[in-house]
Formats: sequence, structure tokens, C-alpha cells
Amino acid sequence: MTYRAIKGTKDILPAETARWQHVEQTVRSVFHRYNYREIRTPVFEQTSLFARSIGELTDIVGKEMYTFADRSGDSITLRPEGTASVMRSYIQNNLAQDQPLTKVYYIGPMFRQERPQAGRLRQFHQFGAEATGSPTPETDAEIIALAIDIYRALGITQWSLQINSVGDEECRPRYKELLRAELRKVADRLSPESQKRLEQNPMRVLDSKDENDRALTAGMPLINDHLNEACAAHFGRVKELLTSYGIPFTVNGRLVRGLDYYTKTAFEITSSELGSQDALAGGGRYDLLVQELGGKPTPSVGFAAGMERLMMILEKKGFAAPEPRPRLFLAAADAPARDWVLAKTMELRSRGVAAETDLLGRSLKSQMKEADRQGAAFVLVVGAAELAAGRGVLKNLSDHSSVEVALDDLHHSV
Ligand code: HAM
Repeated sequence: MTYRAIKGTKDILPAETARWQHVEQTVRSVFHRYNYREIRTPVFEQTSLFARSIGELTDIVGKEMYTFADRSGDSITLRPEGTASVMRSYIQNNLAQDQPLTKVYYIGPMFRQERPQAGRLRQFHQFGAEATGSPTPETDAEIIALAIDIYRALGITQWSLQINSVGDEECRPRYKELLRAELRKVADRLSPESQKRLEQNPMRVLDSKDENDRALTAGMPLINDHLNEACAAHFGRVKELLTSYGIPFTVNGRLVRGLDYYTKTAFEITSSELGSQDALAGGGRYDLLVQELGGKPTPSVGFAAGMERLMMILEKKGFAAPEPRPRLFLAAADAPARDWVLAKTMELRSRGVAAETDLLGRSLKSQMKEADRQGAAFVLVVGAAELAAGRGVLKNLSDHSSVEVALDDLHHSV
């Protein structure tokens, strides 16, 4: 029997990892520029953490979580996103104690049992950031600017930013009632999915992808016309800041996002270079979550972005990250030289040189071919004559020049 990776999961093969590493490095450097520090939380948590944070009625919690009972019978879930875990850790480790505003980032795998398609996997990777402890719109704007800066740093220019305010615990219930009343008038003509959502989560109906739902709800009231003063002022300031930072955006009053913890700002970054799964990143403010999880009231804002979708764009653009290559390939011309070559290779490596040699007992001709195939910068052939003279000819494989070097002093020559 042969094994295959589980549906919706993917190997990231050696030919692709240079690109992944390049992206991860760029992402980290932008996070550091904004003074965010890395946090690493476990990939599994107690199921109720996610149910409580993301919301029982969401698709993620309702249909997509990898949930199982472990051997002691506890219900465990592979994390479908990072925010809930980070907030759990924030509370548990009292990260607030040293500073009023905690800025952290993460990069890692997430798990959702969705229907796999291009850009949608069951194990996918996200990078994301959370700023915890600040209620100010300046923090929302920083989070959005940070996400955009990462795409800019990677040379991705085809993105669009949509923002909305989903209100707070004071104005949202009022608006939901208003919307529900409107929706009830067309309820029998809505899609079955939207009919289900109408009572419990009416704002998701406005976000429906169904054409008919869209037509039916076209003129319905939107949350951002029904914000209370505080939410409206907050939203106004976020827009003002984004404009002053030179970040173009559109306001989409139908944007609600698929997670229930948001208050005030919600945003999404999409790319026209992707297919139907065009969301590169999403995020927003979630002022009630820490409290909901048992911590002190702590206003927070964050975002997360999909790595695979970003990779799809970079691949399409033909972006190639530099691959690690040997600096020097040491080839043995005869059997007696092999031991010397092996020892020298080890010595060079210990001196910090990326040195490679043949481990398969190949002929000199195929060793030379191999050096070429691996893209080594230099090759040096060592046989009895070279060992006797203590000197050899160092060939530069890119400009085909050669220079005679002392074997003792090789590390200075490459
Ligand atoms: P999300 O919108 O569920 O937000 O996910 C963020 C991004 O992860 C998406 O825009 C997409 O690029 C990527 N993504 C999601 N599901 C998949 C999948 N099945 N396959 C490939 N990529 C996927 C969150 O996860 C929130 N935690 C964001 C956040 C952080 N809000 C506040 N702080």
C-alpha cells in the first residue's frame, strides 16, 4: 500500500521552501519594524475555547473544526485560527502585566475541514498579529497598515482593502432587529442558508454569495448607517488615518466576516490575482473577547493572512527566491584522495563554508556534473598530484576562471 497526504493537506517540497523561507523572513522583518514580538502557542486547544471565541453559529465552529476526544476523553480541537489561542495565552500568562499594550505576531499552520479547492486547504498557514490593550483607532490603523506593508514588501501591488464597522454591543443589537424585520419580509424567497441565518445571525445574510439573496437585500439598511456616536467616531478616525497613511480603501457596508468576535472595525484584503478564494487577509477589532474568555475587559485588534494564497500570487509572478547552494564542491580524482576530501569538507563546514562532496563513490566526471547541477560557486579537484604538491586549481563555475590555491588555505580562497 502506498500512502498519500490527507485530502486538503500539502507537502511543501524542497523546491518550494526557499520561497516560503523568503516570505517568512520578510513577514518577520516587517513585524519587527512595527515592534511586534513573536508568540508560539500550541496547535491544539480545548474545543470550547474556539467555540466560545469564534462563535457557535459560525461555519468554522459548526462544520469545519477538527475536533476529537483524546485518550482521556477531553474534547480537543486543532486550531482553526490564531486569535483565540493568543488571547487564551495572554490571559493565562498575564502578558498585560509589563505593558499596557501587547503587540504579538505568529506564523504557523491552522486547520479547517473545508471543501478543498485552489487556495483553500484543510491544513493551511497563516501569519497574523494581535495588538491587545488599546481601544484607539490609531491601533486599528496600525494593524491595517502593517498588513498592507507586508504585501508591499513582497512586491504585491494588486490588492484591495475593504473596511467596515460592525458596531458594538450597544448599537449592533438595535441594528440587527431592524435588519431582521426587513429580512423577514423576503424570508420565503431567500436561499435556505440565508433563511437559517436570518434569526440567529442576520448580518451574515448581507454577506451571502447567492445572487438572488444579493438582489433581495440590495436596498436593506447597512450597519455603518446605524452606528452609535462612539462607533461612528471611531470608524471616521480609522478612515482618516488610512487616508493620511496613503492606503486606499473602500467601505463595504456588507462586510461582516465569518467569525463572531468582531466589534467596530472589520476589514478584508483581497487580490484580483486570485480565483474565487480571493481573500488574502482579514481582521478587525474584538473588544469583548478577552472578557468573554475570563480576562479583564481588554480592547484588541488584529489580522491574519493566508500564506498559500500569497504563495500562489508570487508563483504566478515568477518570483524565485535564492536557493541555498554549495560555495565549494570538493571532487576526489582517485580513491586515496577521498578521505582527504571528506575531512576537508568537514573542516570547511566547521569554518562556516557551505562545502559539499560526493557521498556515492561516483566517477570524477559525474562528480563534476553534480557540482554543476547543484550550482556550486567553485569546484576543486583533488587527487594524488594535488595532495603531493599541497596545491590545487580552484575553478569558478560561473565565469569559468581558474586560480591555483594552497590546499591548507582553502577557506580563505572561497
Ligand atoms: P480569517 O478571515 O478566517 O480570519 O482567515 C484569515 C486568512 O486566512 C484568510 O483571508 C485566508 O487568506 C486564510 N485562510 C482562511 N481559511 C483558509 C483555508 N481553508 N485555506 C487557505 N487559506 C485560508 C482569521 O483567521 C482571524 N483570526 C483573523 C484575525 C486576527 N482577526 C483578528 N485577529
